[in-house]
Amino acid sequence: MIKYTNMVDVLTPDKVGEAELYEFEITIDGLTRAKLTSVRNHGHDEFEGQQVGRFMGLKVSNTLVMTDTEMERRTNDEFIRRAHGRVLIAGLGMGVVLFPLCEKKEVTHITVVEKSRDVLALVIPQLPPYMREDVRFDIADIFEYEPDTQYDCIYFDIWPSVNSDNYPEMKRLFDKYKPHQTAHPDRYMSAWRINDCREQHQEDVFYSAQLKLLRPDMYEQMLEQDKVVEVPNDILESVRILMGGYID
Ligand SMILES: C[S@@+](CC[C@H](N)C(=O)[O-])C[C@H]1O[C@@H](n2cnc3c(N)ncnc32)[C@H](O)[C@@H]1O
Repeated sequence: MIKYTNMVDVLTPDKVGEAELYEFEITIDGLTRAKLTSVRNHGHDEFEGQQVGRFMGLKVSNTLVMTDTEMERRTNDEFIRRAHGRVLIAGLGMGVVLFPLCEKKEVTHITVVEKSRDVLALVIPQLPPYMREDVRFDIADIFEYEPDTQYDCIYFDIWPSVNSDNYPEMKRLFDKYKPHQTAHPDRYMSAWRINDCREQHQEDVFYSAQLKLLRPDMYEQMLEQDKVVEVPNDILESVRILMGGYID
């Protein structure tokens, strides 16, 4: 099991420009409500395994970009488990993944690319000295960054939430960074919650393909009634056949 550090034990609430670190409490009442809402909205419990207690959150321009709750930890597990050699991470956030990564003897070098100068100025001084010295921090937008070396593991963790639109961005980043991977047989490149984003993206593509195949009168009817009309089976079948080639 991967050992994460409780961010309340290492970080102090503070604000630099657009970046703000703050502490919050998860109570049993709040957790129960969040679990129920998650099951109702997503069909599963996003907060599985979550404990009550105090946690840290990071806001950038007043938008919550991350916390160190159980979901954030669980969804980074695979990357940390597979990380080895030279590692490139996009998105410093609170440095949650840096703590377990720095403990892995298989990891020989870490570069973090972060686009917010304020996040860097807020978080880096609060990290333990060994991280400040051993990890390379570059300020840049990962879509523009030009690495000067190759990496065994590349991980994109720049999105504040799971979203269908993240998926095309992930694919763009994979294309851009492919030439910067080493030839190591266990090389790894991934992005935070990529499977969930892919699934949502596929649903969106499928839905818009369905819309395009509707007869104009049905489309009008749908807009008028502001609801989804029953799509006849033959149209659904055509969509399925067309979308059969849509594999990633
Ligand atoms: C979810 S947090 C990263 C979490 C982090 N990996 C951790 O372990 O704490 C997202 C971070 O990505 C940064 N970011 C957003 N877009 C970016 C981009 N295009 N290039 C580089 N960093 C970006 C945000 O400023 C934020 O600090």
